[in-house]
Amino acid sequence: MSHLIAPSVLAANFGQLDHDVEMLNQSTADWIHIDVMDGRFVPNISFGFPVLQAIQKKAQKTMDVHLMIEQPEKYIEQFREGGAHIITVHYEACTHLHSILQQIKATGARAGVALNPHTPISFLSDVIQDIEVVCLMSVNPGFGGQKFIQHTYQKIRELKALIQEKGSACLIEIDGGVNLENAPLLVAAGADVLVAGSFVFNSQDPTQTILDLKQFTIY
Ligand code: DX5
Ligand code: ZN
Repeated sequence: MSHLIAPSVLAANFGQLDHDVEMLNQSTADWIHIDVMDGRFVPNISFGFPVLQAIQKKAQKTMDVHLMIEQPEKYIEQFREGGAHIITVHYEACTHLHSILQQIKATGARAGVALNPHTPISFLSDVIQDIEVVCLMSVNPGFGGQKFIQHTYQKIRELKALIQEKGSACLIEIDGGVNLENAPLLVAAGADVLVAGSFVFNSQDPTQTILDLKQFTIY
């Protein structure tokens, strides 16, 4: 399988959200990555259900919702109704992670788990078979436009080994500081999905940038 691209609308222009989502529809993006922040789990607030629903009305691609919120179990069904195809919760925000994964799947959404940069891969070893997407944070969550953390490559290799050892089918998603320099290295290390926010939306031609992220050659 070739890798997937998930542009993050956190870096979009919210004054013309319809236009930006339509650009994603017309592009080679595979998923639309949607960052929800509550000002408690992370030191920033992004947006909630009304914005999600506005995206849902327009989006023709898989909606990949990344919840950077405390107590995500309170809102899983509402995010599903708001159009989420994939719901990703943070390992660090879930006391009962196994239970929340079942809750997500019961809604019909795919279940994802995100790991902060300091959280070891080994913490997922007893639950990896229940996860459909692992999102490795390659920046500290909360803000777009941060610098990529190099240790991510090592974590991808460890996660790939765990997935193979346990016979899991889960995808590896990388979130934070992705650009055209590190993208080929990430895919070569085993990444399946690349999230990119500022690199796409701050570029001269976002459609072309998405294509560039999708089409590079791995040497
Ligand atoms: C960070 C978010 C990321 C962010 C990525 O907390 O989870 O998805 O939008 O933005 P860039 O690509 O600019 O690092
Ligand atoms: Zn994200």
